[in-house]
Amino acid sequence: MNHLEAEIARLGPWVTRFDFAGKTFGGTYDALNDDRVSRLPQFFSQCRRILEVGCLEGGHTVILSRAYPTAEIVAIDGKPENLAKAKFLTSLYGCRKVSFGLEDLETADLSSYGRFEAVVCLGLLYHLEAPWTFLSRVSAQTDAMYIWTVVCSESEAVVPVGKYRGRIFLEGDPADPRTALRKQSFFPTLGSLVQMLRDASFLDFRVLNFETTPNGPSVTIVATKQPYRL
Ligand SMILES: C[S@@+](CC[C@H](N)C(=O)[O-])C[C@H]1O[C@@H](n2cnc3c(N)ncnc32)[C@H](O)[C@@H]1O
Repeated sequence: MNHLEAEIARLGPWVTRFDFAGKTFGGTYDALNDDRVSRLPQFFSQCRRILEVGCLEGGHTVILSRAYPTAEIVAIDGKPENLAKAKFLTSLYGCRKVSFGLEDLETADLSSYGRFEAVVCLGLLYHLEAPWTFLSRVSAQTDAMYIWTVVCSESEAVVPVGKYRGRIFLEGDPADPRTALRKQSFFPTLGSLVQMLRDASFLDFRVLNFETTPNGPSVTIVATKQPYRL
């Protein structure tokens, strides 16, 4: 086992699968070939700064760094072991202009990170207890969001939280790199998610995809404060 393989093993176990020097490493999640991320430049062609929230092990960070070679990418996660892997993976792939932040996005004040042309928010919102508070804080840092999240179907919505409808989701094992920092989270209905975005000043929406996942329906949305133009 060479030095590189020893480091990959030391950081493991991995969720993310990756290839390097003709060998395949890691888990089963093919994050480096995820077209949810690689299609981002279709929607945001010019970005100087991008914020990625919930970066897991950095697979999407690598795609972003390659898609926007001159942009500064800031990637945030709440689990130190995910960030250690993300730092390793982005460095393995020679990504420049990438920096990382350890934050609990349920409560973090994001103002010190500055302004971003786009916030990439895939697989995070449905792991938060109060996603509307996160959206209102992140709204202070950007005018545009690219979101993939699981929502609650209308027929399963049982919990009204203020004006938002949805359901409580009991999170899995906290040792799983993909789970939340808390025991439960809130899945809003699609209508309530759009209302949360409106309440956070995002006024224009493009629903790009709607599909079924084991946890419920999922949606991909471009949300902007100004009318969106391709
Ligand atoms: C399901 S994974 C999604 C990862 C990646 N964005 C993707 O789409 O494949 C959720 C990620 O969000 C992070 N996360 C969950 N709750 C968080 C919180 N309150 N603060 C910061 N990160 C959190 C987890 O550590 C994990 O990396």
